[in-house]
Amino acid sequence: MDSARILIADDDKKTRDFVAAFLSYKGYQVYQAADGQDALEKIELNDVQMVITDIMMPRVNGLEFIKKLKAMRPDIVTIAYSAFANFEMTANLLKAGAFFYLEKPFNLEELETHVKRGLEHQALQRRSFKSKPCIKNRSLLNNIIGESDRMLSLFEMIEKVATSDSTVLIQGESGTGKELVARAIHDLSNRATKNFVPVNCAAIPDDLLESELFGHVKGSFTGAVATRIGRFEMADRGTLFLDEIGDMKPNLQVKLLRVLQNKELEPVGAARTKKVDVRIIAATNQNLEHLVASKIFREDLYYRLSVIPITLPSLRERRTDIPLLLNSFLEKFNKSKQRRVQAFDKNTLDVLCNFDWPGNVRELENLVERLVILKGSGTITFHDLPEKYRGIKSAIKSEQLTLPDSGFCLNSAVENFENQLILQALEKTGGNKKEAATLLNLKRTTLIEKLKKKKLVFNDASLSGS
Ligand SMILES: Nc1ncnc2c1ncn2[C@@H]1O[C@H](COP(=O)(O)OP(=O)(O)OP(=O)(O)O)[C@@H](O)[C@H]1O
Ligand SMILES: [Mg+2]
Repeated sequence: MDSARILIADDDKKTRDFVAAFLSYKGYQVYQAADGQDALEKIELNDVQMVITDIMMPRVNGLEFIKKLKAMRPDIVTIAYSAFANFEMTANLLKAGAFFYLEKPFNLEELETHVKRGLEHQALQRRSFKSKPCIKNRSLLNNIIGESDRMLSLFEMIEKVATSDSTVLIQGESGTGKELVARAIHDLSNRATKNFVPVNCAAIPDDLLESELFGHVKGSFTGAVATRIGRFEMADRGTLFLDEIGDMKPNLQVKLLRVLQNKELEPVGAARTKKVDVRIIAATNQNLEHLVASKIFREDLYYRLSVIPITLPSLRERRTDIPLLLNSFLEKFNKSKQRRVQAFDKNTLDVLCNFDWPGNVRELENLVERLVILKGSGTITFHDLPEKYRGIKSAIKSEQLTLPDSGFCLNSAVENFENQLILQALEKTGGNKKEAATLLNLKRTTLIEKLKKKKLVFNDASLSGS
């Protein structure tokens, strides 16, 4: 028996009870809401997977509801129904992210077929964490946001390497979460109760880095007024995070290599060595292999550090995570800044999904913080975005395309462009696929194929001349 959780939103209690009774009988767990507003509140409280909604409802109507829902929880599959919808409404619903539209009156068996298809579609789209038995410590990885395939593989990797004690080298562009991943590895390791000690090799002046790492004895150099232990010792039985390792100078690279090989260090000015038990995680946003090839970084140290190499994807390589990141940060900053911003509208989400994010998650997080503070409440629209982020949209809209300085993703821009033109052709022709295909200079079958591939699933009954 299937126990997927479905919410039904309809102001007409009779219809709602009828659909609810049928789906409960079929084994689904059913929740009910009397309008869009009520539905949004219930979704916050319950872990709903699918929504079936009427369009004509008081307070927040079906279309508004779907727009808000998609911004808040893009993973929830939505089926809409109405007795009154025309083609324009149908196109708007699908544009807003509805999975399917049904015309009233509908047959309950027909509804169930679409429910099953919607749930299958969802399962395919989000290979959920629960279906991955190897990810046991989901809660410890919770602060790393992502559900794209790249991130799911990363979570598996973090789990596997955490308990191994091997040296890890994390590479990735700035702002991709290298420090976050290093902390997660430490938190999941057997060393979690001991210190995680970060050292930014680029931020500490060269002449101080050695004593910072290994400590020094009193009087060993001008300014060494007292004996001090170094970060290695602070991390004893814990983890030392050597950030920006690519910036470490060659003389220190030799000393670090020695500590890694011998597991003992020599504080500056000390006569004796000290044993340490430290796990090293190193990170860099430079290409260490290039630094090795150009003899800036020692090859032997590179191999010592990269026992387990982890490369973090840039945000451009995991665009499907962008809505999730935007909404999670929206929630976070609403709480911490005491604001009540509800959502990003669909258009804004599209624009931000097409942006290339040179500063990766850090840049996205900073943008959301700024938007939440300035907006305060309501929905964030395209016009709330700083100029830089609006550039892409204008480029797509204008006839003469200009490549923004930050560049953009050709594939998703082309896809977006194509979707808009197809929807416009269908709107212009009242949904007649043959005429729409002629307008687009395509064969009718090619257009139908495209619609299927894009999952622009239309209820054939709502489209004439299909
Ligand atoms: N997957 C993610 N989920 C949630 N927050 C993230 C994620 N990735 C990065 N962040 C956030 O983005 C910011 C930058 O992350 P972090 O400092 O780990 O990046 P980094 O790769 O070390 O960058 P840099 O190379 O510039 O030091 C932090 O505020 C971090 O919390
Ligand atoms: Mg960092």
